[in-house]
Amino acid sequence: MTDKKANLSIDGHDPIELPIYTGTIGPDVVDVGKLTGQGLFTYDPGFVSTAACESKITYIDGDKGILLHRGYPIGQLAEHSDYLETCYLLMHGELPTQEQKDEFVDTIRHHTMVHDQLFTFFNGFRRDAHPMAIMCGVVGALSAFYHDSLDISDEKHREVAAIRLIAKMPTLAAMSYKYSIGQPFMFPDNSLDYSANFLHMMFNTPCERKEISPTLSRAMDRIFTLHADHEQNASTSTVRLAGSTGANPFACIASGIAALWGPSHGGANEAVLEMLNEIGDEKHIDTFIARAKDKDDSFRLMGFGHRVYKNFDPRAKVMKEAADEVLAELGLENDPLLKIAKRLEQIALEDEYFIERKLYPNVDFYSGIILKALGIPTNMFTVIFATGRTVGWLAHWHEMISGPYRIGRPRQLYTGSVERDFLPIDKR
Ligand code: CMC
Repeated sequence: MTDKKANLSIDGHDPIELPIYTGTIGPDVVDVGKLTGQGLFTYDPGFVSTAACESKITYIDGDKGILLHRGYPIGQLAEHSDYLETCYLLMHGELPTQEQKDEFVDTIRHHTMVHDQLFTFFNGFRRDAHPMAIMCGVVGALSAFYHDSLDISDEKHREVAAIRLIAKMPTLAAMSYKYSIGQPFMFPDNSLDYSANFLHMMFNTPCERKEISPTLSRAMDRIFTLHADHEQNASTSTVRLAGSTGANPFACIASGIAALWGPSHGGANEAVLEMLNEIGDEKHIDTFIARAKDKDDSFRLMGFGHRVYKNFDPRAKVMKEAADEVLAELGLENDPLLKIAKRLEQIALEDEYFIERKLYPNVDFYSGIILKALGIPTNMFTVIFATGRTVGWLAHWHEMISGPYRIGRPRQLYTGSVERDFLPIDKR
Protein backbone atom coordinates (compact mmCIF):
# COMPACT_ATOMS: atom_id res chain seq x y z
CA MET A 1 0.00 0.00 0.00
CA THR A 2 1.21 3.54 -0.73
CA ASP A 3 -0.16 7.03 -0.16
CA LYS A 4 -0.77 7.25 -3.90
CA LYS A 5 -4.37 7.50 -5.01
CA ALA A 6 -6.10 7.37 -8.38
CA ASN A 7 -8.86 9.88 -8.96
CA LEU A 8 -11.51 8.72 -11.32
CA SER A 9 -14.05 11.06 -12.75
CA ILE A 10 -16.93 9.50 -14.63
CA ASP A 11 -19.88 11.36 -16.16
CA GLY A 12 -22.92 11.12 -13.88
CA HIS A 13 -20.90 9.96 -10.83
CA ASP A 14 -19.24 11.73 -7.92
CA PRO A 15 -15.41 11.76 -8.17
CA ILE A 16 -14.06 8.41 -6.99
CA GLU A 17 -10.79 8.01 -5.13
CA LEU A 18 -9.13 4.62 -5.56
CA PRO A 19 -6.17 3.31 -3.53
CA ILE A 20 -2.97 2.35 -5.35
CA TYR A 21 -0.74 -0.51 -4.16
CA THR A 22 2.95 -0.85 -4.88
CA GLY A 23 4.59 -4.26 -5.07
CA THR A 24 8.26 -5.02 -4.38
CA ILE A 25 8.83 -4.78 -8.14
CA GLY A 26 6.48 -4.35 -11.09
CA PRO A 27 3.72 -1.93 -11.99
CA ASP A 28 1.54 -0.23 -9.39
CA VAL A 29 -1.94 -1.67 -9.03
CA VAL A 30 -5.14 0.36 -8.77
CA ASP A 31 -7.67 -1.20 -6.38
CA VAL A 32 -11.01 -0.99 -8.20
CA GLY A 33 -12.88 -3.09 -5.60
CA LYS A 34 -15.07 -0.26 -4.43
CA LEU A 35 -16.38 0.62 -7.92
CA THR A 36 -19.15 -1.93 -7.57
CA GLY A 37 -20.56 0.14 -4.69
CA GLN A 38 -20.88 3.01 -7.23
CA GLY A 39 -22.73 0.79 -9.70
CA LEU A 40 -19.68 0.36 -11.93
CA PHE A 41 -17.55 -2.57 -13.09
CA THR A 42 -14.20 -2.53 -14.90
CA TYR A 43 -13.98 -4.23 -18.29
CA ASP A 44 -10.84 -6.18 -19.19
CA PRO A 45 -11.44 -9.27 -21.35
CA GLY A 46 -8.45 -11.61 -21.22
CA PHE A 47 -7.32 -9.95 -17.94
CA VAL A 48 -4.77 -7.91 -19.86
CA SER A 49 -4.53 -5.19 -17.19
CA THR A 50 -6.04 -6.96 -14.20
CA ALA A 51 -4.17 -8.28 -11.17
CA ALA A 52 -6.47 -10.92 -9.68
CA CYS A 53 -4.44 -11.54 -6.52
CA GLU A 54 -1.40 -10.59 -4.47
CA SER A 55 1.43 -13.14 -4.72
CA LYS A 56 5.00 -13.63 -3.50
CA ILE A 57 5.91 -16.59 -5.69
CA THR A 58 6.95 -15.56 -9.21
CA TYR A 59 7.71 -12.27 -10.92
CA ILE A 60 7.79 -11.70 -14.67
CA ASP A 61 8.89 -8.58 -16.54
CA GLY A 62 7.80 -9.36 -20.07
CA ASP A 63 9.48 -6.31 -21.63
CA LYS A 64 12.86 -7.09 -20.14
CA GLY A 65 12.53 -10.89 -20.45
CA ILE A 66 12.87 -11.47 -16.68
CA LEU A 67 11.45 -14.45 -14.78
CA LEU A 68 12.15 -14.77 -11.05
CA HIS A 69 11.01 -17.53 -8.69
CA ARG A 70 11.01 -16.21 -5.11
CA GLY A 71 13.50 -13.64 -6.42
CA TYR A 72 15.89 -16.10 -8.10
CA PRO A 73 16.37 -15.72 -11.90
CA ILE A 74 15.19 -18.77 -13.84
CA GLY A 75 18.53 -19.00 -15.69
CA GLN A 76 20.39 -19.44 -12.37
CA LEU A 77 17.91 -22.04 -11.14
CA ALA A 78 18.15 -23.99 -14.41
CA GLU A 79 21.95 -23.92 -14.25
CA HIS A 80 22.67 -24.46 -10.55
CA SER A 81 19.55 -26.04 -9.09
CA ASP A 82 17.33 -28.98 -10.00
CA TYR A 83 13.60 -29.56 -10.27
CA LEU A 84 12.92 -30.81 -6.75
CA GLU A 85 14.96 -28.03 -5.17
CA THR A 86 12.96 -25.54 -7.29
CA CYS A 87 9.77 -27.25 -6.06
CA TYR A 88 10.88 -26.73 -2.46
CA LEU A 89 11.68 -23.08 -3.21
CA LEU A 90 8.29 -22.46 -4.81
CA MET A 91 6.38 -24.20 -2.04
CA HIS A 92 8.34 -22.88 0.96
CA GLY A 93 9.66 -19.52 -0.21
CA GLU A 94 13.36 -20.20 0.46
CA LEU A 95 16.01 -22.51 -0.97
CA PRO A 96 16.42 -25.57 1.30
CA THR A 97 19.47 -26.33 3.41
CA GLN A 98 21.13 -29.64 2.52
CA GLU A 99 19.24 -31.35 5.34
CA GLN A 100 15.89 -29.88 4.26
CA LYS A 101 16.58 -30.84 0.66
CA ASP A 102 17.49 -34.44 1.54
CA GLU A 103 14.33 -34.78 3.59
CA PHE A 104 12.13 -33.28 0.86
CA VAL A 105 13.64 -35.46 -1.88
CA ASP A 106 13.27 -38.54 0.33
CA THR A 107 9.62 -37.74 1.07
CA ILE A 108 8.81 -37.26 -2.62
CA ARG A 109 10.67 -40.48 -3.42
CA HIS A 110 8.47 -42.41 -1.01
CA HIS A 111 5.20 -41.17 -2.49
CA THR A 112 5.82 -42.06 -6.14
CA MET A 113 3.63 -45.17 -6.20
CA VAL A 114 -0.08 -44.79 -6.92
CA HIS A 115 -2.95 -46.65 -5.27
CA ASP A 116 -3.26 -50.11 -6.77
CA GLN A 117 -6.92 -49.57 -7.70
CA LEU A 118 -5.97 -46.66 -9.95
CA PHE A 119 -4.62 -49.29 -12.35
CA THR A 120 -8.15 -50.50 -13.03
CA PHE A 121 -9.32 -46.90 -13.45
CA PHE A 122 -7.08 -46.64 -16.53
CA ASN A 123 -8.91 -49.54 -18.19
CA GLY A 124 -12.00 -47.37 -18.57
CA PHE A 125 -10.22 -45.27 -21.20
CA ARG A 126 -10.05 -46.19 -24.86
CA ARG A 127 -6.56 -47.24 -25.93
CA ASP A 128 -6.36 -44.29 -28.33
CA ALA A 129 -7.33 -41.74 -25.66
CA HIS A 130 -5.12 -38.65 -25.65
CA PRO A 131 -2.84 -38.86 -22.58
CA MET A 132 -4.08 -35.39 -21.49
CA ALA A 133 -7.65 -36.77 -21.45
CA ILE A 134 -6.43 -39.57 -19.19
CA MET A 135 -4.54 -37.12 -16.96
CA CYS A 136 -7.61 -34.87 -16.50
CA GLY A 137 -9.51 -37.95 -15.37
CA VAL A 138 -7.00 -39.76 -13.18
CA VAL A 139 -5.65 -36.70 -11.38
CA GLY A 140 -9.20 -35.63 -10.50
CA ALA A 141 -9.85 -39.23 -9.42
CA LEU A 142 -7.03 -39.04 -6.86
CA SER A 143 -9.50 -37.18 -4.64
CA ALA A 144 -11.43 -40.45 -4.41
CA PHE A 145 -8.31 -42.28 -3.19
CA TYR A 146 -6.71 -39.97 -0.65
CA HIS A 147 -9.47 -38.92 1.75
CA ASP A 148 -6.87 -38.34 4.43
CA SER A 149 -5.52 -35.22 2.69
CA LEU A 150 -8.71 -33.43 1.60
CA ASP A 151 -9.27 -31.07 4.53
CA ILE A 152 -8.02 -27.86 2.96
CA SER A 153 -8.24 -25.96 6.26
CA ASP A 154 -5.60 -28.28 7.76
CA GLU A 155 -2.06 -27.24 6.78
CA LYS A 156 -0.78 -30.81 7.20
CA HIS A 157 -3.42 -32.11 4.78
CA ARG A 158 -2.45 -29.45 2.26
CA GLU A 159 1.20 -30.41 2.53
CA VAL A 160 0.54 -34.15 2.16
CA ALA A 161 -1.70 -33.53 -0.87
CA ALA A 162 1.03 -31.39 -2.47
CA ILE A 163 3.72 -34.03 -1.82
CA ARG A 164 1.47 -36.72 -3.28
CA LEU A 165 0.74 -34.72 -6.41
CA ILE A 166 4.37 -33.76 -7.10
CA ALA A 167 5.51 -37.35 -6.47
CA LYS A 168 2.77 -39.16 -8.39
CA MET A 169 2.46 -36.96 -11.49
CA PRO A 170 5.44 -38.59 -13.30
CA THR A 171 4.06 -42.04 -12.44
CA LEU A 172 0.60 -41.17 -13.78
CA ALA A 173 2.10 -39.42 -16.83
CA ALA A 174 4.18 -42.48 -17.73
CA MET A 175 1.18 -44.77 -17.08
CA SER A 176 -0.95 -42.73 -19.49
CA TYR A 177 1.72 -43.30 -22.15
CA LYS A 178 2.20 -47.02 -21.43
CA TYR A 179 -1.56 -47.52 -21.56
CA SER A 180 -1.82 -45.84 -24.97
CA ILE A 181 0.85 -48.13 -26.49
CA GLY A 182 -0.38 -51.29 -24.78
CA GLN A 183 2.70 -51.91 -22.64
CA PRO A 184 2.55 -52.90 -18.97
CA PHE A 185 2.84 -50.09 -16.44
CA MET A 186 6.28 -49.70 -14.92
CA PHE A 187 6.56 -49.25 -11.17
CA PRO A 188 8.68 -46.30 -10.06
CA ASP A 189 12.26 -47.19 -9.12
CA ASN A 190 13.05 -45.17 -6.02
CA SER A 191 16.80 -45.65 -6.43
CA LEU A 192 16.60 -43.18 -9.34
CA ASP A 193 16.26 -39.42 -9.15
CA TYR A 194 12.95 -37.75 -10.09
CA SER A 195 13.63 -37.20 -13.78
CA ALA A 196 15.56 -40.42 -14.42
CA ASN A 197 12.71 -42.28 -12.73
CA PHE A 198 10.23 -40.68 -15.12
CA LEU A 199 12.30 -41.71 -18.16
CA HIS A 200 12.63 -45.22 -16.66
CA MET A 201 8.82 -45.52 -16.30
CA MET A 202 8.36 -44.20 -19.85
CA PHE A 203 10.91 -46.25 -21.73
CA ASN A 204 11.81 -49.38 -19.77
CA THR A 205 9.71 -52.53 -19.74
CA PRO A 206 9.57 -55.37 -17.22
CA CYS A 207 11.62 -57.49 -19.64
CA GLU A 208 14.17 -54.90 -20.70
CA ARG A 209 15.85 -52.27 -18.63
CA LYS A 210 18.28 -49.72 -20.04
CA GLU A 211 20.36 -47.29 -18.01
CA ILE A 212 19.11 -43.71 -18.28
CA SER A 213 21.80 -41.37 -19.64
CA PRO A 214 22.62 -38.61 -17.12
CA THR A 215 22.65 -36.01 -19.95
CA LEU A 216 19.13 -37.00 -20.92
CA SER A 217 17.76 -37.08 -17.38
CA ARG A 218 19.41 -33.70 -16.76
CA ALA A 219 17.66 -32.36 -19.88
CA MET A 220 14.35 -33.78 -18.62
CA ASP A 221 14.97 -32.20 -15.23
CA ARG A 222 15.59 -28.83 -16.89
CA ILE A 223 12.35 -29.12 -18.82
CA PHE A 224 10.49 -29.74 -15.55
CA THR A 225 12.36 -26.84 -13.88
CA LEU A 226 11.66 -24.41 -16.72
CA HIS A 227 7.96 -25.23 -16.59
CA ALA A 228 7.65 -25.18 -12.80
CA ASP A 229 5.78 -21.89 -12.51
CA HIS A 230 4.79 -18.84 -14.52
CA GLU A 231 2.72 -16.63 -12.20
CA GLN A 232 -0.94 -16.01 -13.08
CA ASN A 233 -1.17 -17.77 -16.46
CA ALA A 234 -4.45 -19.34 -17.66
CA SER A 235 -4.03 -22.72 -15.94
CA THR A 236 -2.75 -21.25 -12.67
CA SER A 237 -5.61 -18.76 -12.61
CA THR A 238 -7.96 -21.68 -13.27
CA VAL A 239 -6.50 -23.56 -10.30
CA ARG A 240 -6.88 -20.45 -8.10
CA LEU A 241 -10.46 -19.94 -9.26
CA ALA A 242 -11.37 -23.60 -8.64
CA GLY A 243 -9.55 -23.47 -5.30
CA SER A 244 -11.41 -20.30 -4.27
CA THR A 245 -14.62 -22.35 -4.09
CA GLY A 246 -13.02 -24.63 -1.49
CA ALA A 247 -12.61 -27.53 -3.96
CA ASN A 248 -10.04 -30.17 -2.96
CA PRO A 249 -6.47 -29.91 -4.31
CA PHE A 250 -6.70 -32.97 -6.60
CA ALA A 251 -9.82 -31.51 -8.28
CA CYS A 252 -8.12 -28.09 -8.55
CA ILE A 253 -5.02 -29.54 -10.21
CA ALA A 254 -7.25 -31.50 -12.62
CA SER A 255 -8.86 -28.17 -13.60
CA GLY A 256 -5.37 -26.75 -14.21
CA ILE A 257 -4.53 -29.71 -16.46
CA ALA A 258 -7.71 -29.11 -18.47
CA ALA A 259 -6.87 -25.41 -18.92
CA LEU A 260 -3.28 -26.21 -19.88
CA TRP A 261 -4.38 -28.55 -22.65
CA GLY A 262 -5.36 -25.83 -25.15
CA PRO A 263 -2.99 -24.98 -28.04
CA SER A 264 -2.68 -21.34 -26.93
CA HIS A 265 -1.19 -22.52 -23.63
CA GLY A 266 0.50 -25.86 -22.82
CA GLY A 267 -0.76 -27.57 -25.96
CA ALA A 268 1.56 -25.35 -28.00
CA ASN A 269 4.59 -27.66 -27.67
CA GLU A 270 2.60 -30.46 -29.28
CA ALA A 271 1.28 -28.03 -31.90
CA VAL A 272 4.88 -26.97 -32.73
CA LEU A 273 5.80 -30.51 -33.70
CA GLU A 274 2.58 -30.96 -35.66
CA MET A 275 3.34 -27.74 -37.51
CA LEU A 276 6.93 -28.83 -38.28
CA ASN A 277 5.57 -32.12 -39.64
CA GLU A 278 3.03 -30.25 -41.72
CA ILE A 279 5.74 -27.96 -43.14
CA GLY A 280 7.62 -31.14 -44.00
CA ASP A 281 10.43 -29.53 -45.99
CA GLU A 282 12.49 -26.34 -45.74
CA LYS A 283 11.20 -25.28 -49.15
CA HIS A 284 7.66 -24.91 -47.73
CA ILE A 285 8.67 -22.57 -44.89
CA ASP A 286 7.97 -19.38 -46.87
CA THR A 287 4.39 -20.52 -47.55
CA PHE A 288 3.77 -21.08 -43.84
CA ILE A 289 5.34 -17.74 -42.89
CA ALA A 290 3.06 -16.06 -45.44
CA ARG A 291 0.04 -17.89 -43.98
CA ALA A 292 1.00 -16.78 -40.44
CA LYS A 293 1.02 -13.16 -41.63
CA ASP A 294 -2.26 -13.41 -43.57
CA LYS A 295 -5.10 -11.85 -41.55
CA ASP A 296 -7.65 -14.02 -43.40
CA ASP A 297 -5.88 -17.23 -42.39
CA SER A 298 -6.27 -18.44 -38.81
CA PHE A 299 -2.89 -20.21 -38.96
CA ARG A 300 -0.34 -19.01 -36.40
CA LEU A 301 3.29 -19.93 -36.14
CA MET A 302 3.13 -22.22 -33.11
CA GLY A 303 5.85 -21.67 -30.53
CA PHE A 304 6.10 -17.95 -31.34
CA GLY A 305 4.73 -15.04 -29.36
CA HIS A 306 3.66 -14.68 -25.75
CA ARG A 307 1.04 -12.68 -23.90
CA VAL A 308 3.58 -11.36 -21.40
CA TYR A 309 7.03 -11.64 -22.99
CA LYS A 310 7.53 -8.94 -25.54
CA ASN A 311 11.23 -9.69 -25.48
CA PHE A 312 12.95 -13.08 -25.65
CA ASP A 313 11.31 -15.62 -23.30
CA PRO A 314 14.09 -16.22 -20.67
CA ARG A 315 13.04 -19.87 -20.44
CA ALA A 316 13.52 -20.20 -24.19
CA LYS A 317 17.15 -19.06 -23.87
CA VAL A 318 17.96 -21.90 -21.45
CA MET A 319 15.83 -24.35 -23.40
CA LYS A 320 17.70 -23.50 -26.61
CA GLU A 321 21.04 -24.28 -24.92
CA ALA A 322 19.64 -27.53 -23.56
CA ALA A 323 18.31 -28.41 -27.02
CA ASP A 324 21.77 -27.93 -28.55
CA GLU A 325 23.34 -30.13 -25.82
CA VAL A 326 20.81 -32.93 -26.25
CA LEU A 327 21.00 -32.89 -30.05
CA ALA A 328 24.80 -33.07 -29.89
CA GLU A 329 24.73 -35.92 -27.32
CA LEU A 330 22.31 -37.88 -29.49
CA GLY A 331 24.02 -36.98 -32.78
CA LEU A 332 20.76 -35.54 -34.10
CA GLU A 333 21.98 -32.19 -35.42
CA ASN A 334 20.94 -33.22 -38.93
CA ASP A 335 17.43 -34.45 -38.14
CA PRO A 336 15.25 -33.05 -40.98
CA LEU A 337 12.49 -31.78 -38.67
CA LEU A 338 14.99 -30.09 -36.41
CA LYS A 339 16.61 -28.47 -39.43
CA ILE A 340 13.20 -27.04 -40.40
CA ALA A 341 12.82 -25.73 -36.82
CA LYS A 342 16.19 -23.96 -36.89
CA ARG A 343 15.53 -22.41 -40.29
CA LEU A 344 12.04 -21.30 -39.22
CA GLU A 345 13.45 -19.68 -36.10
CA GLN A 346 16.04 -17.81 -38.15
CA ILE A 347 13.53 -16.56 -40.74
CA ALA A 348 10.99 -15.47 -38.14
CA LEU A 349 13.64 -13.59 -36.15
CA GLU A 350 14.56 -11.61 -39.26
CA ASP A 351 11.05 -11.01 -40.60
CA GLU A 352 9.54 -7.52 -40.18
CA TYR A 353 6.10 -8.89 -39.21
CA PHE A 354 7.50 -10.87 -36.29
CA ILE A 355 10.00 -8.19 -35.23
CA GLU A 356 7.31 -5.47 -35.21
CA ARG A 357 4.97 -7.58 -33.06
CA LYS A 358 7.79 -8.85 -30.85
CA LEU A 359 6.97 -12.47 -31.65
CA TYR A 360 9.99 -14.36 -30.40
CA PRO A 361 10.27 -18.14 -30.08
CA ASN A 362 8.78 -19.13 -26.73
CA VAL A 363 9.64 -21.97 -24.33
CA ASP A 364 7.41 -24.40 -26.22
CA PHE A 365 9.30 -23.99 -29.44
CA TYR A 366 12.50 -25.46 -28.01
CA SER A 367 10.95 -27.84 -25.48
CA GLY A 368 9.14 -29.57 -28.36
CA ILE A 369 12.50 -30.04 -30.10
CA ILE A 370 14.19 -31.50 -26.99
CA LEU A 371 11.27 -33.78 -26.18
CA LYS A 372 11.26 -35.12 -29.73
CA ALA A 373 15.01 -35.76 -29.49
CA LEU A 374 14.47 -37.61 -26.19
CA GLY A 375 12.06 -39.91 -28.01
CA ILE A 376 8.98 -38.60 -26.19
CA PRO A 377 5.89 -38.97 -28.40
CA THR A 378 4.25 -35.71 -29.41
CA ASN A 379 0.99 -36.36 -27.58
CA MET A 380 2.94 -36.59 -24.29
CA PHE A 381 4.47 -33.11 -24.58
CA THR A 382 1.65 -31.29 -22.79
CA VAL A 383 1.51 -34.02 -20.15
CA ILE A 384 5.16 -33.28 -19.39
CA PHE A 385 4.39 -29.57 -19.15
CA ALA A 386 1.57 -30.44 -16.72
CA THR A 387 3.91 -32.61 -14.66
CA GLY A 388 6.45 -29.80 -14.28
CA ARG A 389 3.76 -27.13 -13.68
CA THR A 390 2.00 -29.11 -10.93
CA VAL A 391 4.23 -27.53 -8.29
CA GLY A 392 3.44 -24.01 -9.54
CA TRP A 393 -0.29 -24.70 -9.39
CA LEU A 394 0.12 -26.10 -5.88
CA ALA A 395 2.25 -23.21 -4.66
CA HIS A 396 -0.39 -20.71 -5.84
CA TRP A 397 -3.26 -22.75 -4.47
CA HIS A 398 -1.47 -23.07 -1.13
CA GLU A 399 -0.63 -19.36 -1.02
CA MET A 400 -4.29 -18.49 -1.62
CA ILE A 401 -5.74 -20.96 0.88
CA SER A 402 -3.22 -19.93 3.56
CA GLY A 403 -4.43 -16.33 3.64
CA PRO A 404 -7.82 -14.64 3.58
CA TYR A 405 -9.49 -15.27 0.23
CA ARG A 406 -12.90 -14.93 -1.39
CA ILE A 407 -14.58 -16.99 -4.04
CA GLY A 408 -13.48 -15.75 -7.48
CA ARG A 409 -16.49 -14.23 -9.23
CA PRO A 410 -15.88 -12.00 -12.28
CA ARG A 411 -18.65 -9.69 -13.47
CA GLN A 412 -19.69 -8.91 -17.05
CA LEU A 413 -20.78 -6.29 -19.54
CA TYR A 414 -24.24 -7.63 -20.46
CA THR A 415 -25.24 -7.02 -24.10
CA GLY A 416 -28.11 -9.53 -24.39
CA SER A 417 -31.81 -8.86 -24.62
CA VAL A 418 -33.53 -6.55 -22.15
CA GLU A 419 -36.36 -8.09 -20.09
CA ARG A 420 -39.24 -9.38 -22.22
CA ASP A 421 -42.32 -11.54 -21.75
CA PHE A 422 -42.34 -15.25 -22.48
CA LEU A 423 -43.97 -16.08 -25.85
CA PRO A 424 -46.12 -19.21 -26.16
CA ILE A 425 -44.72 -21.61 -28.80
CA ASP A 426 -47.50 -20.92 -31.37
CA LYS A 427 -46.69 -17.15 -31.28
CA ARG A 428 -42.91 -17.36 -31.99
N1 CMC B 1 1.97 -16.27 -35.44
C1 CMC B 1 1.55 -15.24 -36.21
N2 CMC B 1 1.05 -14.09 -35.70
C2 CMC B 1 0.95 -13.97 -34.38
C3 CMC B 1 1.36 -15.00 -33.52
C4 CMC B 1 1.88 -16.19 -34.09
N3 CMC B 1 2.30 -17.19 -33.32
N4 CMC B 1 1.13 -14.65 -32.23
C5 CMC B 1 0.60 -13.40 -32.29
N5 CMC B 1 0.50 -13.01 -33.59
C6 CMC B 1 0.05 -11.68 -34.06
C7 CMC B 1 -1.45 -11.53 -34.00
O1 CMC B 1 -2.07 -11.91 -35.21
C8 CMC B 1 -1.58 -10.04 -33.75
O2 CMC B 1 -1.34 -9.37 -34.95
P1 CMC B 1 -2.12 -7.97 -35.27
O3 CMC B 1 -1.70 -7.01 -34.21
O4 CMC B 1 -1.66 -7.60 -36.65
O5 CMC B 1 -3.59 -8.30 -35.21
C9 CMC B 1 -0.41 -9.74 -32.82
O6 CMC B 1 0.60 -10.71 -33.16
C10 CMC B 1 -0.74 -9.81 -31.33
O7 CMC B 1 -1.34 -11.08 -31.07
P2 CMC B 1 -2.38 -11.37 -29.91
O8 CMC B 1 -3.22 -12.54 -30.30
O9 CMC B 1 -3.07 -10.09 -29.53
O10 CMC B 1 -1.42 -11.75 -28.73
P3 CMC B 1 -1.84 -12.49 -27.40
O11 CMC B 1 -0.98 -11.91 -26.34
O12 CMC B 1 -3.32 -12.42 -27.18
O13 CMC B 1 -1.47 -14.00 -27.71
C11 CMC B 1 -0.35 -16.09 -27.76
C12 CMC B 1 -0.37 -14.66 -27.16
C13 CMC B 1 0.77 -16.89 -27.07
C14 CMC B 1 -1.69 -16.79 -27.51
C15 CMC B 1 -0.07 -15.97 -29.29
O14 CMC B 1 1.16 -15.32 -29.53
C16 CMC B 1 -0.12 -17.32 -29.99
O15 CMC B 1 -1.19 -17.79 -30.36
N6 CMC B 1 1.09 -17.99 -30.17
C17 CMC B 1 1.12 -19.31 -30.74
C18 CMC B 1 0.77 -20.33 -29.66
C19 CMC B 1 1.90 -20.53 -28.66
O16 CMC B 1 3.06 -20.70 -29.05
N7 CMC B 1 1.53 -20.56 -27.36
C20 CMC B 1 2.49 -20.85 -26.29
C21 CMC B 1 2.66 -19.71 -25.33
S1 CMC B 1 4.08 -20.00 -24.29
C22 CMC B 1 3.62 -21.28 -23.25
C23 CMC B 1 2.69 -20.89 -22.18
O17 CMC B 1 3.02 -20.01 -21.36
O18 CMC B 1 1.61 -21.52 -22.10
